[in-house]
Amino acid sequence: MKIIAANWKLHKTPQEAREFCDQLLTQIPKLKAKNQLMIFPSALCLEAVAEKLKVTSVQFGLQNVHFEGQGAFTGENSATASLSVGAQVALVGHSERRALFHEKDEVLAKKVKFLQEQGLTPVFCIGETLAERESQRTIEVLEYQLREGLKLAFPQKSLVVAYEPVWAIGTGKVASLEQVEEAHQEVNRILKELGFNSATPILYGGSVKPDNASLLASIPHVHGFLIGGASLHVESYLAIASV
Ligand code: PGA
Repeated sequence: MKIIAANWKLHKTPQEAREFCDQLLTQIPKLKAKNQLMIFPSALCLEAVAEKLKVTSVQFGLQNVHFEGQGAFTGENSATASLSVGAQVALVGHSERRALFHEKDEVLAKKVKFLQEQGLTPVFCIGETLAERESQRTIEVLEYQLREGLKLAFPQKSLVVAYEPVWAIGTGKVASLEQVEEAHQEVNRILKELGFNSATPILYGGSVKPDNASLLASIPHVHGFLIGGASLHVESYLAIASV
């Protein structure tokens, strides 16, 4: 089973989200049942996606949540409200959140904890910048992000990790098979050391496309993908989902 997660970022209107889901629903019966589809629409499109996919096996959720379910937090997204429309998952710590919105490990740790307490599965994102890779610090950075971001997490509750090298996101530069293999093996080792289940799924993200997905999917410890650009069209999303 692979997890095929679509990160729509700040794309699509609710109407476009509904059209995507309608098209997806016509194709689902043809897909290999073994793959778990997941969709992360922008917050304003969540309910549109929920209405279409609630009764299917496709999981969906927010791209970012606050670490409290309600309160005086103008502009934030509520994990609790997402749960009420049927969400099962949420992204935490995507590199765009870290870089553009200055989200720090300490806050990410609270988000992971809150999601797990609510019964939602956090898809916790980690990844090194180009400068960190070039200075041979990749594994050190991944280890730090995992230790800090998961320090309040419950090892017995559900969790997904997404490894996304920052330099591969939206750039068309996919990490090499060796780089992905090494990173996933190390993430698996670190998760075990931190007391998490060795079967915790680890997704790869960063310029995943229909033409590179099957090779990437064959790498040990690659349990699926987090896909940005190629997830915006049903055809390319499903081409990846059928690996
Ligand atoms: P990309 O984005 O597939 O467009 O590189 C991946 C992501 O940001 O999750």
